Amino acid sequence: MCGIVAYIGPREAYPVILKGLKRLEYRGYDSAGVALLNSGLKVFKKKGKVAELEENTIGKDLHAHIGIGHTRWATHGEPNDRNAHPHSSNSGKLAMIHNGIIENYAQLKQELVRKGYHFKSDTDTEVLLNFIEDIKINNKCPLEEAVRIALKRIVGAYVIVLIDQDNPDTLIAARKGSPLVIGIGKNEHFLASDASPIIEYTKEVVYVNDYEIAIIKADELILKNLGNERQTPFITKLDMELAAIEKGGYDHFMLKEIFEQPTTIYDCLRGRLDAENGTITMSGIQKYADQIVNAHRIVMVACGTSWHAGLVAEYIFEELCRINVEVEYASEFRYRNPVINKGDVIIAISQSGETADTLVAIENAKSKGAIILGVVNVVGSSIARVSNAGAYTHAGPEIGVASTKAFTAQLAVLTMIALKIGYEKGTLPHDRYMQLARELEAIPEKVTALLQQHEHIKQLAEKYRDARDFLYLGRGYNFPVALEGALKLKEISYIHAEGYPAAEMKHGPIALVDETLPVVFIATKDSYHEKVISNMQEIKARKGKVIAVINEGDEQSIKLADDVIIVPEADEILLPMLSVIPLQLLAYYIGVSKELDVDKPRNLAKSVTVE
Ligand code: F6R
Repeated sequence: MCGIVAYIGPREAYPVILKGLKRLEYRGYDSAGVALLNSGLKVFKKKGKVAELEENTIGKDLHAHIGIGHTRWATHGEPNDRNAHPHSSNSGKLAMIHNGIIENYAQLKQELVRKGYHFKSDTDTEVLLNFIEDIKINNKCPLEEAVRIALKRIVGAYVIVLIDQDNPDTLIAARKGSPLVIGIGKNEHFLASDASPIIEYTKEVVYVNDYEIAIIKADELILKNLGNERQTPFITKLDMELAAIEKGGYDHFMLKEIFEQPTTIYDCLRGRLDAENGTITMSGIQKYADQIVNAHRIVMVACGTSWHAGLVAEYIFEELCRINVEVEYASEFRYRNPVINKGDVIIAISQSGETADTLVAIENAKSKGAIILGVVNVVGSSIARVSNAGAYTHAGPEIGVASTKAFTAQLAVLTMIALKIGYEKGTLPHDRYMQLARELEAIPEKVTALLQQHEHIKQLAEKYRDARDFLYLGRGYNFPVALEGALKLKEISYIHAEGYPAAEMKHGPIALVDETLPVVFIATKDSYHEKVISNMQEIKARKGKVIAVINEGDEQSIKLADDVIIVPEADEILLPMLSVIPLQLLAYYIGVSKELDVDKPRNLAKSVTVE
């Protein structure tokens, strides 16, 4: 949610920042802007995507060796040029970019207005910037000191980066709650919301911690806490290749990421699952295995697609481990004063590892004695760092705003944890454990086979693209897949879609059914299959159009359905990793056929770092 980039060093700052903003555009694309310091401060900003900013700067003097840039997902103030970042202070000497929300900005604004400050935008960012400027002027102190004083009064989440015309060889940055990575080059530094703008220049990075202020010159990085004490920067080596963040010949990142799933699931299992010998090695989890085996309760906390992965995992854990599992929307869990007992296990599921609600939910639970396990994709992210232990999903950077490969990788990790715990606890018999381990190992190959149907799914997309609404129905392990299919379609194609447990349809949604309504049934061969067929009949009796996701040879469904998509057979516990894939493709192809920007759907952002 909002991407920030900054550079200081011998290179031209603008091209570095512009390229970085393009890489971070998935975090928000309401507006983009840069501020450059040369002989004076120059700010260029524009509503819309980074390409609009680029076009707007053609022919301008962009020469500078220090600069900051921002791509915005609007919180305070509508998306327009005025509200775009960077903002400049009343004196015109300071410029700042910000990712996050300043909750007490209204009160600060009143104080500043009384002092004669004026505001050009409706943003909380401009308020914080002028608050810093006011402190700097009144205390006659360096910018770094003014930032420190200001942040002590700030309620909210932020990454901020400032440049100062009076001190043109220094960037000042600070973080609380939103991500900030600093790349260490040779006499140069790169700042960004994640490592993707940095990877091309250096693999050495520092993840700034909450409540730290960074004072950055071309050849020096100083970190201090809010008490003005020096902190030792901890340098991490990035384990990421440039190819992972490029489209690699695909039309869209979303398509690339859907097609990467055989590899990402394989990468996730690799080195952990040894089906032949029946071992699952997960060092982070092993450390807490006894506590999980003895836990009375596991709570999965997540948002969106990751929440759907939690729902699938609920069924799997209850079945294999006989532990009571609850799945919570992080945004509800964090505010509800939930009962948390010492020894409860909380599993936080997150692709980005930065989702604000999930992060705060686990911080709260941790302070009450819960054990936090993170199932996270982005290495070194905030949720990964707050967690006591966990397992990375190793899906590689997910850039398409709609989550695809992260979901199947989350399912793979959660299944491995459930297998391990169920087996250690004795609730999962040896034979079944071995069978599931073998079947899990075979999933990447089945995904490869399934993806070969992409042309057929593309044709279905053409056929159904003009529907106004869609219903997705599934039962058991496939109920969360129905929710996920509906979510994908909504976000990518802007078609209204709802997911329901198939039997629940009779309690209301069936009123929507007529000959114009496509109903996607996830009707693979599992313990609910006969029941789902009955639900399919109920839809057909009301002239609904049925698209059925089924296994080979399911004659009953083939007779009933208008269209079918065949997925390979698997144990029902593992089926969601397969049945979700045609739904991802269906959403993708419908979005493309409507000429929508599937990688950057309207109003969305990839990493939701505001609550
Ligand atoms: C949907 C989607 C979102 C995310 C949600 C949680 O396609 O991408 O619903 O799943 O914002 O994000 P993470 O997993 O990063 O915590």
